[in-house]
Amino acid sequence: MGQAGWKGLFQSLFDYKTEKYVVAKNKKVGLLYRLLQLSILLYLVVWVFLVKKSYQDIDTSLQSAVVTKVKGVAYTNTTALGERLWDVADYVVPSQGENVFFVVTNLIVTPNQRQGTCAEREGIPDGMCSQDSDCRAGESVIAGHGVKTGHCLRVGNLTRGTCEIFAWCPLETQSRPTEPLLKEAENFTIFIKNFIRFPKFNFSKANVGQMDNRDFLKSCRFSSKNRYCPIFRLGSVVRWAGNDFQDMALEGGVIGIHIEWNCDLDKDASECNPHYYFNRLDNKHTTSVSSGYNFRFARYYRDPDGVEFRNLMKAYGIRFDVIVNGKAGKFSIIPTVINVGSGLALMGAGAFFCDLVLIYIIKKREFYRDKKYEEVRLVGLTLMVQGGWSPA
Ligand SMILES: *[C@@H]1O[C@H](CO)[C@@H](O)[C@H](O)[C@H]1NC(C)=O
Repeated sequence: MGQAGWKGLFQSLFDYKTEKYVVAKNKKVGLLYRLLQLSILLYLVVWVFLVKKSYQDIDTSLQSAVVTKVKGVAYTNTTALGERLWDVADYVVPSQGENVFFVVTNLIVTPNQRQGTCAEREGIPDGMCSQDSDCRAGESVIAGHGVKTGHCLRVGNLTRGTCEIFAWCPLETQSRPTEPLLKEAENFTIFIKNFIRFPKFNFSKANVGQMDNRDFLKSCRFSSKNRYCPIFRLGSVVRWAGNDFQDMALEGGVIGIHIEWNCDLDKDASECNPHYYFNRLDNKHTTSVSSGYNFRFARYYRDPDGVEFRNLMKAYGIRFDVIVNGKAGKFSIIPTVINVGSGLALMGAGAFFCDLVLIYIIKKREFYRDKKYEEVRLVGLTLMVQGGWSPA
């Protein structure tokens, strides 16, 4: 590059370039442009800022602790157990008051089981036999209840029977329940205490906050009219989850109690309140074989001779899972600037669209196109070097 070239480049450093606009005096396109601007502005103000609150910084990492307490008693009178009163220690498992707990609603009790020999239950393929050699001593029955003793027990003169086993005898009675034992569980209540914290904003709250009034907590029940009472009747929870309590109590199931905190921390802390909703988490439409929820446990005793025996219980019931989630938002300058910036950029989309209409769609497009795009042809390289423009 010659000396003149360097000089030109140096001078152009101090040039300010500004854009030149073409004003199209076209009412239709002008109106379209204003309409587009207006709708983009509305979208930004109403949806992005007012509805989505995108001027806020969001914290979704909710920290939460749940403490539960079930209350209620039930009275039963059955042949297996006699007269019995059931209180919390009997029917809530585990008893610590965690966010997942099980309320027993139905029981099949097999009392006085002792270690001994008895016949394996019918219908277990590996336990069927027709002679002693079918029951190899010391082998356990696959999917059965004990270890084979080597004898085949046949009733009367039937050709097939079941192996004798060493097990907890007598075996559990295999009857399906027809009605729940603890019907009264419908009227039991759960008190759910939930403490939350949003670490980003160092904001803590509990769902029992302002209710210092002890009498209120003693008598209130959660309902659509009483949304800030954290005491729930089991029957209502199951009903709100779309199920019938007595139906569910029979074979068991899992209910989700969801607590959702959706807080706008630009407002007062008292406006930050939980919302509750309920659903059934296990699918009751699966095949009848696998539906419901049950597990077994046993209570062990010794008789006066020191021999151990136990009462086996197959407990059916409803498991409640308290699930907490939420988010909090608070004004912050960075998301505000970012969203205003991207909003302004979106305004450019209106101009782009109107340009398309102006140049390609309307009748006088040729005229506008000529005005907008000025055709310039470079005549000779020398012109540039001379640093000026003159018609060749
Ligand atoms: C629950 O309580 C109500 C009223 O206190 C009573 O009418 C109802 O029979 C009770 N339900 C059960 C299953 O005991």
